[in-house]
Amino acid sequence: MAALASDSLRLAPAGALRGSLSVPGDKSISHRALICNALARGEARVTNLLESADCLSTIACLERWGVEFERRTDAGGDAVIVRSPGLAGFAAPTETLDCGNSGTTMRLLAGIAATLPFRSTLDGDESLRRRPMDRVLEPLAAMGAATSGAGGVYAPISVGGGNGLRPFRGRLSVASGQLKSALIFAALGADGESELEEIGPGRDHTERILRAMGAAIETRGATIRVRPGAPLRPRDVEVPGDISAAAFWIVAAAITPNSDLTLPAVGINPTRAGVIEALRAMGAPITLQNEREVSGEPVADIRVRHAPLRGFEASGELVVRALDEWPVIAVAAAVAEGATLIRDAEELRVKESDRIASTAALLRALGAEVEERPNGMRIAGGASLRGGLVESRGDHRIAMAAAVAALIAEGETELRGSGAVDISYPEFWRDLERLRDG
Ligand code: S3P
Repeated sequence: MAALASDSLRLAPAGALRGSLSVPGDKSISHRALICNALARGEARVTNLLESADCLSTIACLERWGVEFERRTDAGGDAVIVRSPGLAGFAAPTETLDCGNSGTTMRLLAGIAATLPFRSTLDGDESLRRRPMDRVLEPLAAMGAATSGAGGVYAPISVGGGNGLRPFRGRLSVASGQLKSALIFAALGADGESELEEIGPGRDHTERILRAMGAAIETRGATIRVRPGAPLRPRDVEVPGDISAAAFWIVAAAITPNSDLTLPAVGINPTRAGVIEALRAMGAPITLQNEREVSGEPVADIRVRHAPLRGFEASGELVVRALDEWPVIAVAAAVAEGATLIRDAEELRVKESDRIASTAALLRALGAEVEERPNGMRIAGGASLRGGLVESRGDHRIAMAAAVAALIAEGETELRGSGAVDISYPEFWRDLERLRDG
């Protein structure tokens, strides 16, 4: 791997990926370990926190409300301490809360802002300013919060409570863990019981942590009931390895001949583990070893070996359970035998980039045949990838998916915008080198 002018990398193909690699802490759980603990008065210790740009955005925003964070290294290892005055002690921010590139930060904190007796303004980078916030602003306004956004849809947004919130009762407009979490936070500050109905299996980390902190949240099928009033206690969290980071190595090992790789202590929460299901459906030998629970989340060591893959069809709930993994699953599909069809995936159009367009562009640049559809794509399969020029479009998951494809492409791949990996996996290039060197 050679560095080029600012932010470009030349990526060479690699041999078998073998051995063991620990992936960083889960991004979604890291955000929630910080945010949920910020709601409770007192101190909590978070270990294996993902200290990527997105999670640092969450920390910076919570500091504006008066929450304190401290890095501590002691006998128990490295930790981040969350010290909070509790929601009732939050201060009115004197400056905008800068969410950077992080949709999770903006949407989850909007839900909390709706319960506070002052307005908070949240903004983000160019990519975040293009992502829809109305899915959160509209239900919060219906609960009685004061909200505004550019055109009612985009950041910068401003959210505040003040006169008490009404409970939320109804269906979520999108199958989104972010939307669900925002409404749960708002519901905790409402003047009665809320009832949310999910339309798809959004990730449930918020419910798990809040319940462990003492919140009255009950899930029955697709219905979530939130009863406000129960006092929240701080809760130490050990963050499991991120399955969305592991996904890059799962696919890399599955498509690179003679690979046999183990990824220890990765979260396998059923609302997140769709990538395992998808790769197994394609014929990848994946085994889960040493299954256990860590801080209320299911965790396992994931072992994956190379095998010839076949195309498959993905739609419905699987699309949501593997939501962030489609760019790299598409890389596997490009080299699988037979076509792969991905449907019901229109949400991918409003991620850090339009991931249907950026995944299609990435695969085409390396010689694969892809047909873009409004709600997904058809990947022809059977491609012999060759090196080419890929632009990450500032999207971390596109940069990492390109690096995985480059492992088996003939010749060199040039990746522009490689620094995007800092959003969710700052050590990605180091880990890639480590695997390459065996
Ligand atoms: C996330 C939820 C998903 C996902 C994002 C992280 C979260 O977004 O794509 O990377 O931590 O709640 P949506 O909830 O908007 O679908």
